[in-house]
Amino acid sequence: MNNKEIVAQAVFEVVKDNLTLPEVERLLENPKSVDHGDVAFPAFSLAKVFRKAPQQIAAELAEKINPETFEKIEVVGPYLNFFMKKEVISSMVLKQIAKEEKHFGDSNIGNEGNVTIDMSSPNIAKPISMGHLRSTVIGNSISLILSKIGYNPIKINHLGDWGTQFGKLIVAYKKWGSEEKVKAEPITELLRLYVEFHEKAEEEPELNDDARAWFKRLEENDEEALNLWKWFRSESLKEFSKIYGMLEIDFDSYNGEAFYNDKMDEVVTMLEEKHLLQTNEGAEIVDLEKYDLNPALIKKSDGATLYITRDLAAALYRKREYNFVKSLYVVGNEQSGHFKQLKAVLKEMDFDWSDEMVHIPFGLITKDGKKLSTRKGKIVLLEEVLNEAKDSALAQIQEKNPDLPNREEVAHQVGVGAVIFHDLKNDRLNNFDFNLEEVVRFEGETGPYVQYTHARAKSILEKAGFTVDAETVYALNDSDSWEIIKLLQSYPEVVMQAADQYEPSVIAKHSIRLAQAFNKYYAHTKILVDDEQKEARLALVHAVTVILKEDLRLLGVHAPNKM
Ligand code: ARG
Repeated sequence: MNNKEIVAQAVFEVVKDNLTLPEVERLLENPKSVDHGDVAFPAFSLAKVFRKAPQQIAAELAEKINPETFEKIEVVGPYLNFFMKKEVISSMVLKQIAKEEKHFGDSNIGNEGNVTIDMSSPNIAKPISMGHLRSTVIGNSISLILSKIGYNPIKINHLGDWGTQFGKLIVAYKKWGSEEKVKAEPITELLRLYVEFHEKAEEEPELNDDARAWFKRLEENDEEALNLWKWFRSESLKEFSKIYGMLEIDFDSYNGEAFYNDKMDEVVTMLEEKHLLQTNEGAEIVDLEKYDLNPALIKKSDGATLYITRDLAAALYRKREYNFVKSLYVVGNEQSGHFKQLKAVLKEMDFDWSDEMVHIPFGLITKDGKKLSTRKGKIVLLEEVLNEAKDSALAQIQEKNPDLPNREEVAHQVGVGAVIFHDLKNDRLNNFDFNLEEVVRFEGETGPYVQYTHARAKSILEKAGFTVDAETVYALNDSDSWEIIKLLQSYPEVVMQAADQYEPSVIAKHSIRLAQAFNKYYAHTKILVDDEQKEARLALVHAVTVILKEDLRLLGVHAPNKM
């Protein structure tokens, strides 16, 4: 039980005739300052019923409420401020964490329902961008959070493996490419060809016609075109897999856009049968005026299908294949319009399940305030970023802990973890600037800081030779530990909030606050001194290691025991 539930129950006992338990709970507030206690009850709402001033009601209630679990109940004007009995709450929380360990906060709210998560989804023959990195790590964290509360997440990498860019690439490869170069460094070389195409096409617009012709051949399953496409795809995937390997993120499906090539006719037929298609200058569109949206372009005048046509086929396929209870799309904010159209078209088709489709947008990563774009070849290669992060972590570890035996492994966990953490710690819609030095710092609100705090807490436990015991009563009553206890106690709600809002930053922020509270405690308290509270303090340290580790796990970040 959390403090609000405890207070609600106590207040309810004395206002039973006038308010229900949920009503009482809804009225409770979290005081802004610790001086006003842990939970507050405003008595205004009872003024009408009791025909008395709220101040007087507050004073009378304070007399009647059972004081058992409270240190004190203070009346301040119309407010009742409840101060929890720290030893009662701390022993309750520490017992539960000792018993449940990392399962503290688990639930089965999801009822094992399938949730498809469209995430990462980079484009073949181009580098994974920082935007795709965001989609990958946000999607992965959401999948971990959802599975903690009982859903069954299905991670789908909707690869951008089809489209007119393959026509361009084939032209460029045939004119200026070489097999060896593509084999040696696929993404770099394919990107170079792509950029070269765009540069040359500015002077020689006929190149665009060639590209269109090649794409058409590809759509018609021309052997040469198809083989080149397959080869570009598999070489690119090999490169992507290196990054997914470094991030330790995997997928349940790599069905990308091309997978839906033979599944779009059905969608178009359905749209026709439902009389939703209109012809507009030779193109087929679905009018979405009543949604205040631009029309959805389903088929171009030359018969070519579009991004949204594939997404319609994909949505249908996912519903049939997985019978999802929720279908999530972790894709940059700039595609909001597209996902609104997608949902609106499905709604028009009378698919009620379209209500369960959620676009989870996120902001841009900038470099020195500027947007990163691939068109002009101005890209940040993710593999390099991750390797640099690892090197920087290694340098810091070597300084702090030169004898660490597995320092390469730890440096990887810290460096890569730092990049992931940095990405997840801000509200996902915020844009942020990427500055590697800041990301890998061991101080400040960083991943390494949280990891370091966890390792430090672990080493205290090791030094003390402490093992937690779920049957022992661990009671604490000082104010520094109380701050920690409250952060631990709120964990199940924090997890729920992160899940409800699809917001990993809620978890990241919790980990930072918990780490800060612990470091403050550590600075003020002699944890290992031999007195009657030593075991309780160690149980607190143990609980901190468990929850910090679980916070990091939910973000997709390791918590090394030593660093
Ligand atoms: N490949 C696309 C891009 O890089 C993202 C795909 C997102 N998923 C989807 N189902 N549309 O912009």
